[in-house]
Amino acid sequence: MDTTENKFTNTKRSGSDGSRGSDTNDTIITVRPRLFKDIIGRDKEKKSLSILIESAKMRGDSVDHILFYGPPGLGKTSLSYVIANEMGVNIKITSGPAIERTADLAAILTSLNKQDVLFIDEIHRLPKIVEEMLYPAMEDFAFDIILGAGPSARTMRLELERFTIIGATTRLGLLSSPLRDRFGVTFRLDFYNDIEIGKILKRSSDILNISISDDAISEIASRSRGTARVANKLLRRVRDYSQVYKIKKIDSSTVLKAMSAHDIDKLGLDSLDIKLLKVVIEKFNGGPVGINTIAAALSEEISTVSDVCEPYLIQSGFLKRTSRGRIATKLAYDYLNLDYNEQLSFL
Ligand SMILES: Nc1ncnc2c1ncn2[C@@H]1O[C@H](COP(=O)(O)OP(=O)(O)OP(=O)(O)O)[C@@H](O)[C@H]1O
Ligand SMILES: [Mg+2]
Repeated sequence: MDTTENKFTNTKRSGSDGSRGSDTNDTIITVRPRLFKDIIGRDKEKKSLSILIESAKMRGDSVDHILFYGPPGLGKTSLSYVIANEMGVNIKITSGPAIERTADLAAILTSLNKQDVLFIDEIHRLPKIVEEMLYPAMEDFAFDIILGAGPSARTMRLELERFTIIGATTRLGLLSSPLRDRFGVTFRLDFYNDIEIGKILKRSSDILNISISDDAISEIASRSRGTARVANKLLRRVRDYSQVYKIKKIDSSTVLKAMSAHDIDKLGLDSLDIKLLKVVIEKFNGGPVGINTIAAALSEEISTVSDVCEPYLIQSGFLKRTSRGRIATKLAYDYLNLDYNEQLSFL
């Protein structure tokens, strides 16, 4: 039991969201939204979720199972906490790879109280055998345990309290369809626009007591890759800079200096993004080139390329994903000041 309890605290992802992924504790604790009113943007999601929550409360039932998917740092974990807080229930946190055995899952499920939320991060990484045990648990709030072995083995059905699973994944495609189908609602979380990121930055700077001008906020927003976590991270880097140089109010020139110290360009592309585009253009004639090859050429994990770099490069129109591989667009050539050969795009 003890080992399973430990897994509940094993919440934060490592690896697949790469170097840009992690919050430091000071911002997780203070900046992470607690209630709907703290969530900036996401109006559509908030509306559907509040209907789900209100109706569940009226029935005295658990909220239907919810799946969030989308690139890292866009609010999957935050929304899950908010749902539990708005319901006024406990949330237990675990992740796909942390539940190694069916016994781990059994221990977690039997510890849930009525209407509790079980948040499973990286749900696409659940072991198959655990995933199969989850099906009846999600559908019938029960699971079967096998007692004994061989011809004398018996199955026993264990009833569970009605609970809610919130799954989060950056890779919807890796989720099996039986699992996907068992979620009552699925939300795709998209990148934020610069106005929303500006509001997120304003909220964070108020909470963290950072004095910053509106211009400076827009400069950070335009470098935040539409990602809340990146915005908060850049804000902290600018705050560090202002502290060291004893700058009382952060303005846009402080942001520009702090950003150039971290090699972050005006669109928020960092050295890895630029290296990726250059690899595609210079080593592979602009593509098409497969993601495995790109990752090998960069000496990076495939998941870092696919989850961290690529979504934003595609969103900003620098990279195209085709069935034959990734292609650098004319925009990427122009951005890097490289000559674009029209012919190549037809190869
Ligand atoms: N809508 C929002 N309003 C305010 N802050 C937000 C919002 N969305 C995200 N954030 C901030 O961004 C940070 C990262 O969000 P979160 O941890 O929820 O992302 P995630 O989608 O779970 O990422 P990952 O896939 O890496 O786990 C949070 O700590 C939170 O402070
Ligand atoms: Mg998360």
